Amino acid sequence: MIWPLNPKSNRRPTAELPAPSRVAIEAAQGAAATPFPRLRRNRKSEWARALVRENVLTVADLIWPIFVCDGVNLRQPIASLPGVQRLSIDAAVDSAREAKALGIPAIALFPYTDPALRDEAGSEALNPENLICRALDAIRQAAPGIGLITDVALDPYTSHGHDGLMRGEEILNDETVEVLARQALNQARAGADMIAPSDMMDGRVRAIRAALDAEGFQSVQILAYAAKYASAFYGPFRDAIGTKATLVGDKRTYQMDPANSDEALREVAQDIDEGADIVMVKPGLPYLDIIHRVKETFGLPTFAYQVSGEYAMIEAAVANGWLDGDKAMMESLLAFKRAGADAVLTYYAPRAAKLLRGG
Ligand code: PBG
Repeated sequence: MIWPLNPKSNRRPTAELPAPSRVAIEAAQGAAATPFPRLRRNRKSEWARALVRENVLTVADLIWPIFVCDGVNLRQPIASLPGVQRLSIDAAVDSAREAKALGIPAIALFPYTDPALRDEAGSEALNPENLICRALDAIRQAAPGIGLITDVALDPYTSHGHDGLMRGEEILNDETVEVLARQALNQARAGADMIAPSDMMDGRVRAIRAALDAEGFQSVQILAYAAKYASAFYGPFRDAIGTKATLVGDKRTYQMDPANSDEALREVAQDIDEGADIVMVKPGLPYLDIIHRVKETFGLPTFAYQVSGEYAMIEAAVANGWLDGDKAMMESLLAFKRAGADAVLTYYAPRAAKLLRGG
């Protein structure tokens, strides 16, 4: 109802008109009935809704993050990520085959490094036989054709749980960038298709691009975690890779302040300038505005990461019977598409893919 009905008069017509519609009131006033748009017409049935639907989620939009650990035939549950497990390489191979069969274009690998192999410098990141390199090799052979994405950052390998090298309390930038470029090369040699620096050091994309090109890896893509925020929503991930207990302090001197938005555009512009092929915003759902701005501003392929805490929130509510899991999952994933994301890293990837394929 529009109120006041006639701004020129203070007459209140509602007393004598029970639950009046605007049309009824205007007719009663003798005014010509003004047509108004009936937006509900296009929603009247599923076929009508399907015809006017603006965004769709497909299996081709999904990237599956997978946690890898040492051992054989292991599937270790992660308490804060119900339904997600750390997988030994053979089990990760099975998941890669499953992803391929479902039509999921790519998987992203994250290692749980044996604590005995972690040190101040994160040197295991450079070991050509490390867990990630062995997993890449095994998956490449067993599931050829699936995209293999690897994370570049030192946190799974450092005793202090930071993404970079430390001197005292400080996270060193340029020294870290040198190591990250070598880590990226180590992964490319082992068969990574797409290198995803998630460390937020300045200048790392340029250094990684130069290192890759110098060794003939021109076709290895760089997916830059360009706007990555210092977020509470990474908690369950840190459980999964075993850095929750060891992390000294926080990551606010390199990851972004959640209060900032213009700065995200500067970060993205910088990474594009340095050679990023694809940019990512992380976390996802609490940062849909950033995804939207990034896509609108640069028009580059833009990915989103529905991070561990986002997944855990939904799953916790589902476990309490408070949400319908499938519906909440699909709605959250579709929201990324609406915001402008081209693909989404999500722990829901296999489950969403099955649902999308009608199974
Ligand atoms: C580490 C990294 C993190 C995530 C991806 N890579 C955590 C962090 O920065 O502490 C988070 C992913 C998730 O929460 O699902 N460089």
